[in-house]
Amino acid sequence: MRPTMVAGNWKMNGLSADAVHLTQAILHAELEPMRPEVVIFPPFTLLHAVSQEAKSSALRWGGQNLFWEASGAYTGEISGAMLRDMGCRYVLIGHSERRQIFAESDVQVTQKVKAALLSGLIPVVCVGETEAERAQGATEAVLYRQVEAILPLLNLEASQPNMIIAYEPIWAIGTGLSASPEQAQAVHAFIRGLVAAYSAQLAKRLLVLYGGSVKGNNAAALFDQADIDGGLVGGASLQAGEFIQICRAAE
Ligand code: G3P
Repeated sequence: MRPTMVAGNWKMNGLSADAVHLTQAILHAELEPMRPEVVIFPPFTLLHAVSQEAKSSALRWGGQNLFWEASGAYTGEISGAMLRDMGCRYVLIGHSERRQIFAESDVQVTQKVKAALLSGLIPVVCVGETEAERAQGATEAVLYRQVEAILPLLNLEASQPNMIIAYEPIWAIGTGLSASPEQAQAVHAFIRGLVAAYSAQLAKRLLVLYGGSVKGNNAAALFDQADIDGGLVGGASLQAGEFIQICRAAE
């Protein structure tokens, strides 16, 4: 089945003028409505600019992180309710930069997934191994640990999964060296198999996105893989033309 989501993670980049320019460029590209679903994850400070430009369009947006408490004395943090208040539908959780730079643990990732679900957001949970872990043959052990930490929050009663998983091999993030389509497919199939142990139906319907140097020149080969349901794009999402090219590769 063709990919169903292409998301741009702008990370800590851009100011309001950049957010308006990028959002307008994506909207003017007249991409196929809702296929793929195009989602933008801007810095929190740019959520308003994106939401104003994208209002009444098919473009969706989300937060790059959230705190697990609903409110309180947590300076610098943002709650799921605040993201919903800004019109967010999704929230990235457990991005490798938060796990590595801000020491986010699997327990904290699980707490954030729970908070996202309670706020009515769809968590996009990022998982992935380091170069050393892959070299040691520990990729599946790492993915097993990270995915199993969140699967108890999968709503088995629902007809559609209440979360999305993004596989982002850390060694491919920001390096220009994407995983090969075959490497990514193997891990995506492994992740889908872990979910199938809870629910075969939800496993089939789960979106598993690939992230890690997705570019205009490699997106089509990645998206042609059976278990890759779309992309989570970093650097290339800041270049309107290339991000639109990646979205078109998923149409
Ligand atoms: O969240 C997506 C990001 O980590 C991938 O970054 O620059 O390798 O596309 P990039």
